[in-house]
Amino acid sequence: MEIRKFKKEDARKVSNLIRKCFREVNSKDYPKKVIDFMCSHFSPKKIIVNSAKRQIFVAVEKDKIIGTVSIHDNIILTVFVNPKIHGKGIGKKLMTKVESEAKKNGFKSVKLPSSITAIDFYKKLGYKKVKVMYELNFGKTIEMRKIL
Ligand SMILES: CC(C)(COP(=O)(O)OP(=O)(O)OC[C@H]1O[C@@H](n2cnc3c(N)ncnc32)[C@H](O)[C@@H]1OP(=O)(O)O)[C@@H](O)C(=O)NCCC(=O)NCCS
Repeated sequence: MEIRKFKKEDARKVSNLIRKCFREVNSKDYPKKVIDFMCSHFSPKKIIVNSAKRQIFVAVEKDKIIGTVSIHDNIILTVFVNPKIHGKGIGKKLMTKVESEAKKNGFKSVKLPSSITAIDFYKKLGYKKVKVMYELNFGKTIEMRKIL
């Protein structure tokens, strides 16, 4: 497995991966209208627009995109792994990648808006809850922070 920078040609595959996670995994914790909003929000076009404002990485195995993560300054966003291969350490490797990017850029801590679904994953990696946030379209998220 290799972690590399996102290229524009990856946009459709990254969008499909994120949408698959929302439909198959996050849908257990969020109402349908939030899942529908998220799926339309993470279109290939939107991902390309985002890639101009933040660093996006993809995890690739045998030419297939199996995970993604992004970072803007010290804010980690959009951590997704193909549901077929959850629990095999890919999410952790993606997090290590962006945490080291933040460190390299001089940040002493990182923060992220966690889905309800991923709280225990982040806790395992040393993140602590800061506050609960609600937004009409995005639903409930939990701000979490880790000192690097
Ligand atoms: C959260 C997510 C990225 C984790 O990816 P992953 O590749 O399955 O995670 P890893 O295999 O690297 O797990 C690392 C550790 O966390 C644990 N872990 C992973 N997901 C967990 C969960 N939901 N609850 C509890 N522990 C979890 C693993 O067991 C592993 O523990 P270990 O180091 O003791 O073996 C993945 O489950 C996912 O894509 N979820 C849906 C999308 C989502 O909610 N993303 C977060 C958006 S904020």
